[in-house]
Order: sequence, then structure tokens, then C-alpha cells
Amino acid sequence: MVRDNAESLTVRDNRTGRDYELPIVDGTIRASELNTIKVDDDGPGLAAYDPGFTNTASCRSAITYIDGDRGILEYRGYPIEQLAEDSTFLEVAYLLIHGQLPSRDDYDAWVHEITYHTFVHENIKTFMQGFRYDAHPMGMLMASVGALSTFYPESRNISDVENRHIQLVRLIAKMPTLGAWAFRHAQGKPYVYPDNELSYAENFLSMLFRMSEQKFAADERLTRALEVLFILHADHEQNCSTNAVRSVGSSQVDPYSAVSAGIAALYGPLHGGANEAVLRMLRRIGSRDNVADFITGVKNGDERLMGFGHRVYKNYDPRAKIIKRASDDVFDVTGVSPLLEIAVELEKIALEDEYFVKRKLYPNVDFYSGLIYEALNFPPEMFTVLFAIPRTAGWLAQWVELVDDKDQRIARPKQIYTGERTLDFTPREKRWA
Ligand code: SDX
Repeated sequence: MVRDNAESLTVRDNRTGRDYELPIVDGTIRASELNTIKVDDDGPGLAAYDPGFTNTASCRSAITYIDGDRGILEYRGYPIEQLAEDSTFLEVAYLLIHGQLPSRDDYDAWVHEITYHTFVHENIKTFMQGFRYDAHPMGMLMASVGALSTFYPESRNISDVENRHIQLVRLIAKMPTLGAWAFRHAQGKPYVYPDNELSYAENFLSMLFRMSEQKFAADERLTRALEVLFILHADHEQNCSTNAVRSVGSSQVDPYSAVSAGIAALYGPLHGGANEAVLRMLRRIGSRDNVADFITGVKNGDERLMGFGHRVYKNYDPRAKIIKRASDDVFDVTGVSPLLEIAVELEKIALEDEYFVKRKLYPNVDFYSGLIYEALNFPPEMFTVLFAIPRTAGWLAQWVELVDDKDQRIARPKQIYTGERTLDFTPREKRWA
């Protein structure tokens, strides 16, 4: 039954000649409505087939807005350019999770709570020390966050708002500690404990790089650049890792386990792992003179131009523009990366070449971020950890929205079955006789 003055789709099933009216709401039709289209009443109805969910909305969300054609990104309605210019990561985390900017008192309380939850149980440190010396930091981060769920079993009570709040605070607070310790582990250096007198970004840098000095001091231009990168990476609506967090979260598991699933998805080279892949690609190209040959290889399908392309942005990723500007500030301090000229040449050629223009492939958030991370003395395997830390705020905002959304159910998609049917099983003895 179509609701009054709603838009609708009239569909004719040519198999039966029957017409169906499907209501159009917010530019979508409910896939479950397709199930009413049947050849015979007791047979199966139609379903939608959409590998990779390229044209499927999984939820209603008020957190992040993206217009891929216009290169627009807004967190709770605020343009990313303004937030990157004037906000802090913890203010943006508050905005994403609570839906509005904090008052001074709320902000001070939020910063205080997070600052005083940066320590982790000593057993987690022991757990992390059990990894091989060359364990990838993302593997360590994924496992350690999952392990945190065993230290806070009450976090399974996901409908208790008070309880949920303290778990969100713990996760946002402890991600830099776990990320820094994974880095120190790979370097064979002692783990540095949090310093509660430092800001979120400064404290992270201190846990990464402090050695014998009593107090870590970072150049404030580098701290600000890291803060901006955290803001830019905080959320991005229904990307692969957020979909993983929502899908796992739909089983009503605790938030640590759901975030651990997000870290696993982000690890992949087509998603958050692309920033690491970009740097390795630039190092492999080696010089500007080799760029043309590399581009030929990409067009022949021999490889991908990592850091280019996006499922949603069919224009320049607005974050890439901001990161490129932030890299200038960092290079003022650290000196320009020799890989920058290769990246600039790649971008120049790709933006003019028909292969990329036709496919609307532009630099994405990962194309320039790796150059900043390299300049900040991070090894490539740490780059995706630097993505996961801020994205935890977005994952948690999306997780809370999922838990509170009455329309949501456990994620359990259909399939198109292509295998064998009703075969007779022959026991081993007979099969092998
Ligand atoms: C992130 O979703 C998000 O929001 C993610 C993210 C976030 O903040 O969470 O923005 C972060 O993951 C950014 C993307 C980082 N990944 C990369 O930079 C890896 C390289 N890019 C791609 O592999 C690709 O562009 C994706 C994965 C990002 C998007 O893949 P789609 O939308 O499934 O597009 P596709 O693979 O179907 O490609 C369409 C066409 C294909 O050509 P044809 O087969 O039609 O001839 O474009 C080609 C692809 O071969 N193509 C590329 C390419 N990306 C797509 N060709 C060369 N180089 C590339 N980078």
C-alpha cells in the first residue's frame, strides 16, 4: 500500500504481467518491498543483488555527509575545511559522538576523562610483548583492542548509556597508547607511559618518540599537523571499516570487539592500508623520470595507482587538498620529502590522462598523508595505525547510532546460490576403495 503523496515506482513483472507500486522514500526503495514480487504466491520473492553494496543504503545516519561529485565532506553538518582549520580532534570526536559541539564545561570534562583513561592494564602490555619482534602494528592493534573487551566484561551491556559512555572514553583514550606501544615493540624500545600533562596529539608523540629525556617536547607545527590529520580521518560515513563495525555491532557484541573488526577492515590495502601502499609505490617509482612508465603500467592493468580513486568521491577528495597544504607546514620543519616531486608528477599526469579522467580517479585521503607521516619519522607500517586511532571516534559514533536505531536488525544478507544440490554422499571407505 503506497502512502499518500509519497513518490513511488510502478514496476511490471513481465513474468506475470502484474504491476507493483513501490514507495520511494529518501531516494530509496526498501529492498524488502521487492520480496512481494513473486511468480507464484508460495514461491520466493525478488531480492536485490549488490556485491560491495555499490548502490545500497544500509542505514539512516546523521553523522557524516559526503557529496562525492562536489567533493563535500561535513561532520554533523560542519564543513571539514572549517573543522580542520579551527577545531581539535577531541572536540571533533565529541561532535561526532554527541551530535553537537561541546560547551566549555562539557569540553573540559571530556578532555579530562579521556586524558585520565590513557593507561592500559599491565597485562595488556605483557600481551603485546608476546608478539614477534617484527609483528605488523595493525595486527597488534587489532588483537590488543579485542583483548581489551576481556578487561571490561560489563561493556557487553550496550543498552546502558552510562556504561556505554565510559567504554567510548576508554577506547578513544587508549588507542594512542596501544598504537604507540605497537610502534615501540617493533623498534625494540621500552614502552613509554602516557603523560597526562600533554594534549592528546602531544601525548601520542611522546609515547612514540620519548627516549631518556624527562619531558617530551614536539615542535607545535608538527603537533598541529597531526591534530589536523586526526580530524580529517575521524569519520567518513559508510566506508568499508565502518560497515564492518556496524555489521559486527549488529550482533549486539561489545564495542571493543566491534572496533577490533573495524581495525581489521581498515588494514586492507584497498582501504586504510592504502597510505602505506602509496609510500611503498613512490619509493618503488624512485624518481620523476620513471613516472611515465609507471602510469603506462597502471593503464595496462599491471598495477593500481594507490592513493587514487574512491567509491564516493568522483572529484578531488577534500581531505587530500587539506593534507597537501598541511604537508607544506610539516616540510617547513622537516625539509621536503624527495618523494613529493614524484607524487606531484603522478598527480599532474593522472589528472590529465584520459584513463583516469574517464574513471574519475582523483587523489584520495591516502595519497599525500603518507608523505607527512614519513616526514614525522613514522615507518610505513605505522601509517594505517595513524588512520585507525582517529577513526575510532567515527566508528564509535556510528556504533552508538546503530545501537539506538530501532530500524536496525542483525546483519544477515541473502545470497545467490550457485553450487550443487542434493548430491548422494559416498563414505570414505567406499570412495577410496
Ligand atoms: C579509503 O570508502 C571510504 O570512505 C574510504 C576512505 C575512508 O575515509 O574511510 O575514504 C578511505 O579507503 C580511501 C581509498 C584508499 N584506497 C586506495 O587508494 C587504493 C586504490 N584505489 C582503488 O583500489 C579504488 O579506487 C577504491 C577501492 C578506492 C574504490 O574502488 P571501487 O569504487 O570499487 O572502484 P573500482 O575498483 O570498481 O574501479 C573502477 C574502475 C576500474 O577500472 P575498470 O575495471 O572499470 O576498467 O577504476 C579503476 C578500476 O580498475 N581504478 C583504478 C584505481 N581505482 C579504480 N585504476 C588504477 N588505479 C586506481 N587507484
